[in-house]
Amino acid sequence: FVIVRSHETGERIPLTIADSDAERGTITLVMQEVGRGTEKLGAFEEGQSYIDVVGPLGKHREIPEGKTIVCVSGGLGLAPMYPQTKAYHAAGNKVISIVGARSKSLLFWQDKIEKVSTRVLYSTDDGSFGHHGYATQLLEQLVAEGEKIDEVVAIGPVPHMRAVAECCKKHNLPVTVSLNPIMVDGTGMCGGCRVTVGGKVQYACVDGPEFDGAEVDFAELMARQGTY
Ligand code: FES
Repeated sequence: FVIVRSHETGERIPLTIADSDAERGTITLVMQEVGRGTEKLGAFEEGQSYIDVVGPLGKHREIPEGKTIVCVSGGLGLAPMYPQTKAYHAAGNKVISIVGARSKSLLFWQDKIEKVSTRVLYSTDDGSFGHHGYATQLLEQLVAEGEKIDEVVAIGPVPHMRAVAECCKKHNLPVTVSLNPIMVDGTGMCGGCRVTVGGKVQYACVDGPEFDGAEVDFAELMARQGTY
């Protein structure tokens, strides 16, 4: 991921590199305007520059081969899920994408994700597109269908990742989550992104952001997110 700032006194905002083009030398970032910082970033026109882009930060992801991987994204989590889905697909894995959103109007990149997935299942909380309900229910459906799943990856809001991790624990499936705690420096110095994984203190910016979902202390993570 990278940390961007719009201007000298701008907030430092961590964003996953959602796509890249080595030939053009570009990276793609996806964000939702939810506050002053992201609104400022979103107001930039083509050709303008953010004051800084720091990265790449975090650990890289090992890409397995010949496996069946289920990628369960929630909301904006589809953006950070996309590059790994693409990489799993390119490495010859069977990739089943489960894309959850609150509503159809919040879905994006359907064409991109469909191109790099063997199968795509959609759910919306309000039933405006795909399954009426949650992404975890579609994961349960896959298990009930007898799909042989080697690994599950969950990215999205903390309650989404927690629900997927619980579902995976129930079915004894390995699950990786990509945590998004509050970050400041992104280099392991401020402690803002502290999480507990397997009883040990970890820093999402340098030790993650991906962790074993079965080991993450989600209750603590949610409490810490609520502090800010
Ligand atoms: Fe400061 Fe991770 S963002 S320690």
